[in-house]
Amino acid sequence: MLCVARTAEAFARAHDASRSAARTAGILHDIAREWTPAALLEYAREHRLPVDDFERAAPLLLHAKVGADIARREFGVTDPDTLAAISTHTVVQPSMTELQKILFVADTVEPTRTYEGRAALAATALRSLDEALLGCVKASIEYLAARNVPIAPQTLEVYNALVTRYGTTA
Ligand SMILES: [Fe+2]
Repeated sequence: MLCVARTAEAFARAHDASRSAARTAGILHDIAREWTPAALLEYAREHRLPVDDFERAAPLLLHAKVGADIARREFGVTDPDTLAAISTHTVVQPSMTELQKILFVADTVEPTRTYEGRAALAATALRSLDEALLGCVKASIEYLAARNVPIAPQTLEVYNALVTRYGTTA
């Protein structure tokens, strides 16, 4: 979480976004990451968090929404953008704010991750969050498709929107 927070802060600095919001989102984003699928579903039910079909099929995705709820209730985070960034760090959404993109990309490219192309994506993020986001979404689609895992419609929507703009250079 500290690596994500530091990376998110660096991206915020590069794009003139709120460094403190990026740091807060980075530090708290995985607060529910160690929970079991059953505990995440139970928390969502108890606190009336919306659960879509993809989250029902893969409840670990819910650690994002549950984490945002805990950040608000237990850590006193009130900034809607920070909460949204935490809430969407597992599955991209169309029309994400700059902070949402910063956290999603930072989580994908933080330096303790080891996949090929990580450093190049991190460098791209300093220049263009959307181009980096496209790279992250592509990697995610390739990873899921190689394992015959369904891809969330929002992910494909974001891919389609970005690939027409950045596909030739990303
Ligand atoms: Fe996470």
